Amino acid sequence: MDNINHLVVTAKQQINSINDLTELDNIRVQYLGKKGALTALLKNLNSLSADERPKMGQIVNEAKTLIAQLLQEKKEHLVNAELNAKLATEVIDITLPGRRSQIGSLHPITKVRTRMEELFRTLGFDVIEGPEIEDEFHNFTALNIPEHHPARAATDTFYLEHGDYLLRTQTSPVQIRAMEEFGVPIRAIAPGKVYRCDYDPTHVPMFHQLEGFVVDENITFANLKGILNDFLEMFFEKKVATRFRPSYFPFTEPSAEVDLRCVLCDGEGCRVCGNTGWIEVLGCGMVHPKVLDAVNIDSEKYTGFAFGMGIDRFAMFKYQINDLRLLFENDIRFLEQF
Ligand code: DAH
Repeated sequence: MDNINHLVVTAKQQINSINDLTELDNIRVQYLGKKGALTALLKNLNSLSADERPKMGQIVNEAKTLIAQLLQEKKEHLVNAELNAKLATEVIDITLPGRRSQIGSLHPITKVRTRMEELFRTLGFDVIEGPEIEDEFHNFTALNIPEHHPARAATDTFYLEHGDYLLRTQTSPVQIRAMEEFGVPIRAIAPGKVYRCDYDPTHVPMFHQLEGFVVDENITFANLKGILNDFLEMFFEKKVATRFRPSYFPFTEPSAEVDLRCVLCDGEGCRVCGNTGWIEVLGCGMVHPKVLDAVNIDSEKYTGFAFGMGIDRFAMFKYQINDLRLLFENDIRFLEQF
C-alpha cells in the first residue's frame, strides 16, 4: 500500500515538474509502459493470495487510472501552451494595408510607336523592320551620303570593330533593304532604334525613329504633304497646321523639314515651342534618283517620297515630357504615369 502511495506521489511530482511533451511521454512509459512500474505491480498480483488479490488489484488499477489522467491533463496543458505561443508569434495585423502586386504597363515609347504603326496601317503602309547593326553601304553609300560626309565620322557614328559594320545612325537604310527585297511599288514604314554618339538634355546615344517611304509611278510632293498632314491630325487628334521648310538631306531632292504649329499652345508661344509657336517634327523629301539607282530601280519611271521622324520626340509632345532622358532612366514612378 505505502509502496503504491509513494509511487503515485512521485509520479505526480514528476508530472508537475516537467514542461516538455517528450519528457512527459518518458514518464508515461516509466509508469504505464510494458515494463513500467504499475504494469509490474499488476503482474505481481498473481503471487498474492486469493483474498488479497482483488483488493490489491483495485488499488493498483485506481493508481493506474489516476496517473493516466494526470498524464493526459498535463499533455493537454502542454499542447495548448505550445499552440498559444505559436499563435502569439504568428499574429497577423489585419488592419495593415494589403500588399499590392505591381501591374506592368507599356513604356510610353512603345505606346507611341504602336499608335504610329496603327495609324500608318490605316493609311495603307506595311510595317517592316531592318537590322540595328548595319553596313556602310546601306546606312550611307546607297543613301547618297558621300565618303567624307561628317555623319560618317567616328565622332558621330558607333563603328564595330568587325569589318565595315556600324550601329545604324538612322532608319533610312531600311528603305534600301526593303527595295532590295520587295522591289517597287512599295509603301512602308520602318520603326526602330538608332544610335549616335551624343548625350545632352535633347540627345541620347540610342533613340527611336520611324521611317516612311512610298515609291511608285506618279508619286508627287503633294502626296507626301497629304499623307503627313493626315498622319499628324490623327496622331494629335486635332486639326493641325504644318510648314514645309526647304532643307537638305543627301537621299531626298527636294528636301524639307516639317514644322507643326505647336500642339500645346496652338501657336501662341510656350516653353515647348521655345515661344516660336512651331515645333520641328520631321524631315522628308522626294527620294533622290541616285537612291533608286543604287537598288537598280528605274528612276525615270518611278518616283517616291520618304520621311523620318523621332518617335521619342512624338512621345514628348504627346505626353508633355520636357527632358528626353526621363524616357530612358527606367524610373517606375515616372513610367507608371502612362
Ligand atoms: N534620316 C534622317 C535623319 O536621321 C531623317 C530623314 C530625313 C529621313 C528626310 C528621311 C527623309 O526619309 O526623307 O536625320
